[in-house]
Amino acid sequence: MCGITGYIGKKGNAIKTVMDGLVALEYRGYDSAGICYKDKDKLITIKEQGKIANLKSKLDFNVKSNLAIGHTRWATHGEPSKVNSHPHSSNKFTIVHNGIIENYMELKEELLKNGYSFKSTTDTEIAVAYIDYIYKKEKDILKTLNKVTNIFRGSYALGIICEDDLDSLYALRKTSPLIIARGKDENYIASDVPAILKYTNKYILLDDYEIAKITYQNIEIYDKDLNLINKDTLEFEGTYESSIKGGFEHFMLKEINEEPTVFENTINNYIDENFKNIPDLSKYKNIHIVACGSAYHVGLIGKHLIEKFAKIPVYVEIASEYRYKYNFYDKDTLVILVSQSGETADTLACLRLVKEKGIDTLSIVNVVGSSIARESKYVMYTKAGCEIAVATTKAYLSQLTVFAVITMYLTNKILKTEIEKIPSLLKNIINEDYKYLAEQIHNNKNIFFIGRGIDYYLCMEGSLKLKEISYINSVAYQAGELKHGTISLIDKETPVIAISTDKDLREKTISNIKEVKARGAKVIFITNEDIDGDFYDYKIIIPKLNEILQPILVIPTLQLLAYEVAKLNNCDIDKPRNLAKSVTVE
Ligand code: AGP
Repeated sequence: MCGITGYIGKKGNAIKTVMDGLVALEYRGYDSAGICYKDKDKLITIKEQGKIANLKSKLDFNVKSNLAIGHTRWATHGEPSKVNSHPHSSNKFTIVHNGIIENYMELKEELLKNGYSFKSTTDTEIAVAYIDYIYKKEKDILKTLNKVTNIFRGSYALGIICEDDLDSLYALRKTSPLIIARGKDENYIASDVPAILKYTNKYILLDDYEIAKITYQNIEIYDKDLNLINKDTLEFEGTYESSIKGGFEHFMLKEINEEPTVFENTINNYIDENFKNIPDLSKYKNIHIVACGSAYHVGLIGKHLIEKFAKIPVYVEIASEYRYKYNFYDKDTLVILVSQSGETADTLACLRLVKEKGIDTLSIVNVVGSSIARESKYVMYTKAGCEIAVATTKAYLSQLTVFAVITMYLTNKILKTEIEKIPSLLKNIINEDYKYLAEQIHNNKNIFFIGRGIDYYLCMEGSLKLKEISYINSVAYQAGELKHGTISLIDKETPVIAISTDKDLREKTISNIKEVKARGAKVIFITNEDIDGDFYDYKIIIPKLNEILQPILVIPTLQLLAYEVAKLNNCDIDKPRNLAKSVTVE
């Protein structure tokens, strides 16, 4: 995610303070950085693509400045580039932004009609121009900012400087986090506590639609009716390390807890009253899905949904196999490449291979401007934000969401009521306690996952999560396949995690569960109906949803079970041995 820092004070060290803050926010992931600072009565903006060191090399730290805002950009709209980096300016205003202004295109049309022009392809440049546009009418900074909070839709945390008031730093937010920190004869803004811990641990949490006007001595907070309000000053107790994880013990747990917001950000990017930002996929008569690891597992679920509901044949292949085997294409083929990083070597190689054959490509990618995204004919971005933990969680859920969107698009049916329920259902599922279940299985050397159809594909991801962070050998099996050999491995107390959400296959799956139970297995039964019976030892009930959206509710349970097992086994959860976040080698 993007990182914001800002400083206003009397000590003349605004540049260093803001840059130190950006370094402290590096953990959020970024592809460019920039700063705007007051030098005497001028505003200077310097920004660079790439690491913060690139930006630092362009700065003169001897310049005495008392006002600055800084930004690390994790691209969401517009490729990573110098021109797309923040801060962005329009006449008297300069801003840094974290979030997504969803209605930026309609705002852009209004601005173009009123003589504005743009250099970048970002929603942020539209936002700062719109602030300037309103200011020309209101001629009052607070009234202007209050007005735009009612016009901007989506999520935003903004740090704002206006040339008409260089003794103040302004800030406002909706959904994206922003804190105001209190120092001695200086005050700060930041996306997150780590950016200010070097100077103070006292901070104020800005709430949605609130506007802050900050001088070196005062912090004024206004509510959405522009009433001056009092806010509690909080004190951060903890280390820098704990602060960059938002208070969570591991990035993986933090990212699982972000899943409700990730679902909303992803679904809102493709569906409001109608579908949007989706290429015309209805013309294709057969689809190949190519990916690696967890992305491959998502592809299998995508296959299941598209074939079952849109009646289009789908072939799913692991990229490292697909690129060397004979594949059948024709002019009606679409190849979908799924990749969180957008840089996985095998997947990128497959993209280039099929493009040479003139086949249309769609990539489902999380990192904006990554190679796979840039080189595909179409791209549908997942809106998971930067994922730090090597084991993917929120990005996987976001990929599931995109395939649910594609299935709804191909069947022309928006499951609006169910979509609206999902964020709160996800929160409830994530807040459940899975530690007691982990305690039953964490000492085992082998753990089995079984399921049929879409439930088997979920088993595959649950098994991979467990393997990669707890180092316990685990295998996913089609439940009907056990009796053809594997059941010989089932012994007394062998843990078997059985998933059954597909009602049509439930009876068969339960008979397979009874087969392993009869041989002494310890069964954890994950289902979406409250079924009683003696064929399981533990039962987890997932709220029932339409099959197109159901996997989205199942996956956090599997991720958290793996997390709790790995934690009990004192594993390096965020950086498992031998693994890389992006496998850019073959
Ligand atoms: C996921 O937990 C794994 N770390 C790994 O399987 C990953 O999904 C795979 O390497 C693909 O990466 P990508 O999505 O960035 O292409």
